[in-house]
Amino acid sequence: MIEISDLHVNYGRVHALSSISIKLQPGEIFAVLGANGAGKTTLLRSILGLTAARGAICFDGEDISGLTVTDRVRRGISLVPEGRRLFPEFTVEENLRIGAFNRTDRADVQRDIANICEVFPILKERSQQRSRTLSGGEGQMLAIGRALLARPRLLLLDEPSVGLMPIAVSEIFKMIGDIPKTKGITVLLVEQNAKKALAIADRAAVLELGRVVFEGDAGTVTADPRVKDAYLGG
Ligand SMILES: Nc1ncnc2c1ncn2[C@@H]1O[C@H](COP(=O)(O)OP(=O)(O)OP(=O)(O)O)[C@@H](O)[C@H]1O
Ligand SMILES: [Mg+2]
Repeated sequence: MIEISDLHVNYGRVHALSSISIKLQPGEIFAVLGANGAGKTTLLRSILGLTAARGAICFDGEDISGLTVTDRVRRGISLVPEGRRLFPEFTVEENLRIGAFNRTDRADVQRDIANICEVFPILKERSQQRSRTLSGGEGQMLAIGRALLARPRLLLLDEPSVGLMPIAVSEIFKMIGDIPKTKGITVLLVEQNAKKALAIADRAAVLELGRVVFEGDAGTVTADPRVKDAYLGG
């Protein structure tokens, strides 16, 4: 569904990504693990076109690497950014609507908002509240809901569990784990919580200093001694 080949990103003299090649199958959850500064956010941003990259990004057979961000969103790619990036003075409902900025099917947008509120009942309760008043977990649900309103076929998630209490983390991961089954969406999940990410992922890759150093199905990655030592607490 998406195939990234030989992707490079430089920030001045910093080589943030070096020759990344990753291929995702439709309907899978692919986890990308890695330490701070490994290049995880850069990878997600360059898939959406927010960061300039060299290399090919093939989405459903089309090279999208020359397209604008808006056109990539139109093709069906949506990002839940690092740190959520909600509009704090806008209400929950207004934030959800922003996710549908590229759509003209108003009635369907309304139906999708109702659907998101079924998945996250708290968003319905808080729908007229400014998003700055939400808790961390509620804010993350809103950020995911907003990304889903673009009706993506590929959802990019940048550290959705960061800053959440354990109970909220479990809830968020359960919800993410259900996305391919309930919505048929492919998920690329960047996480520092390697254990939780590997538990819901089909496959995973480990990034170190902008390179993929290890890739395999989630079971193999979980069992690998190098991954255990570095990312799963031994
Ligand atoms: N706009 C930028 N200008 C210069 N260097 C940058 C920029 N953005 C990222 N970098 C550098 O690129 C490297 C990769 O950063 P990136 O944000 O992709 O890492 P990350 O894996 O997401 O880290 P974290 O887990 O801390 O979020 C880092 O060394 C970072 O300092
Ligand atoms: Mg990051």
